[in-house]
Amino acid sequence: MQSVSEIKSLRSQIKAWRQQGLSIAFVPTMGNLHNGHFSLVEKAKTLADKVVVSIFVNPMQFGASEDLDSYPRTLDEDKQGLAELGTDLVFTPSVEAIYPNGLAAQSYVDVPGVSMGYCGGTRPGHFKGVATVVTKLFNMVQPDFACFGEKDYQQLQVIKTMVRDLSIPIEIVGVPTQREVSGLAMSSRNGYLSADEKDTAKVLFQTLSDAAKMLASGNKDFADIEQQAKSQLLKNGLTPDYFAIANAITLKPATLKDQQLVILAAAFLGKVRLIDNLQVSL
Ligand code: PAF
Repeated sequence: MQSVSEIKSLRSQIKAWRQQGLSIAFVPTMGNLHNGHFSLVEKAKTLADKVVVSIFVNPMQFGASEDLDSYPRTLDEDKQGLAELGTDLVFTPSVEAIYPNGLAAQSYVDVPGVSMGYCGGTRPGHFKGVATVVTKLFNMVQPDFACFGEKDYQQLQVIKTMVRDLSIPIEIVGVPTQREVSGLAMSSRNGYLSADEKDTAKVLFQTLSDAAKMLASGNKDFADIEQQAKSQLLKNGLTPDYFAIANAITLKPATLKDQQLVILAAAFLGKVRLIDNLQVSL
C-alpha cells in the first residue's frame, strides 16, 4: 500500500492509473478505523481497480465546543488495517495542505434543504464543513465511485444531493451500517464509552427497531411514535437530541403518502452524542 501525504504525489499516482485505463473507488474517512470503515473499503474493492482511502480529521466540520482536539487519532493501526485489506493508496494530508489559507477565508460548499435540521440543526456549520472537504477530496482523487456509510444517513443524502446539484461525475455508494452484537452502530465515538455506557447505548438501536416495527404494522401516527421513542430513550438513560420519521430521500417530515421512510435519531449519553437510523419501506 502506498502512503501519500502530499497532494502533488497523490495527483501523479492518480494520473498514472488513469493513463493505464484503471478505475478508482474512494473512501473518505477521519481515521480511527473500525469494521464500519473496513466494510466501505471492501465495497470499494468490488467497484473499481484501485482503492484510495483518505484519513483527515477535518477541522471545518467541528463546532467550537466539539471534540476536534480529542478526536481519536490512530494512524499506525489504521494504516496496518488498510494494508491488510488490500487498499492501494492511503492519503493523509495535513490541515495546512487542505486549508493553506486557514478556515476563515476558505470558499465553501453549502447544500441547503437536506442539510437543515437533525444533525444540521444541532451542529450548525457541520455539513458545510463536510461538503467542502468532500468536494476538495473529490477534486484531488477524482474517483469514479465514492463510498459512504449509511450510519451517517443525513451526510449520505447531503453528499448525494451535492453531487447531483453540482454535476460532479462520481457515483455515490451507500454502505449498510455495521453493528456490534448488541445492535449498537459502530462509530469511532463509541471509544468514548465505558462498558456500562455501551450497554445503555444499545437502547438507541432497540428504540429505532421498536419504532420501525410500529411503522411496519401500519401505525402512521408519526408524532405519537416519535414521542413514545423519546420517552423510551429518557427512561433508559439517554437524552434524546432528535427522533424523527422522515422521507428517506428529502429528509422532510414523513407524510401519509411516503413509502420510503427513514427514522433518524440522535441522543446524548453524558457528553457523548450517538446517532443512528433505520430505513423502513412500507
Ligand atoms: O464521515 C466522515 O468520517 C466524515 O464526515 C468525512 C466524510 C470523511 C468528511 O470529513
